[in-house]
Amino acid sequence: MKIALGSDHAGYDLKMYIRAHLEAQGHEVNDLGVHNNERSDYPVYGKKVAKEVANGNSDFAIVCCGTGVGISIAANKVKGIRCCCCSEPYSARMSRRHNNCNVLALGGRVVGDELALMIVDEFLATEFEGGRHERRVNLISELDEY
Ligand code: RB5
Repeated sequence: MKIALGSDHAGYDLKMYIRAHLEAQGHEVNDLGVHNNERSDYPVYGKKVAKEVANGNSDFAIVCCGTGVGISIAANKVKGIRCCCCSEPYSARMSRRHNNCNVLALGGRVVGDELALMIVDEFLATEFEGGRHERRVNLISELDEY
């Protein structure tokens, strides 16, 4: 899969840990920064990465900040993006099955490295169920116009 990555300084270490994991699995990773621990602004990277998914350059994206919250809010402002902030694998799985999420957000100050990888693996391994959930996701898409 083609997977875009992004973070601010507070999510940088976790992003790099996830990046190594994804590359070892053979995914094509597009790391859009940040590229060091210097203070940075999460909305910039949330937008940058989300646009990669919205324009079809990447299948999915994973974004990290301190909590995962700020960067998920930023990513969700981009049309076509459904980003969920997850701290455990169940929500990550259901965000794919029921919500067809295309961006996963994680908090570098919230989840440990190994738990983060479980969340990432669950997210990427799970398919959208469609059916009755399709209509609901379409209703979410309509909100892109507001
Ligand atoms: C940075 O200190 C922190 O506010 C940011 O990484 C994030 O947690 C915001 O939601």
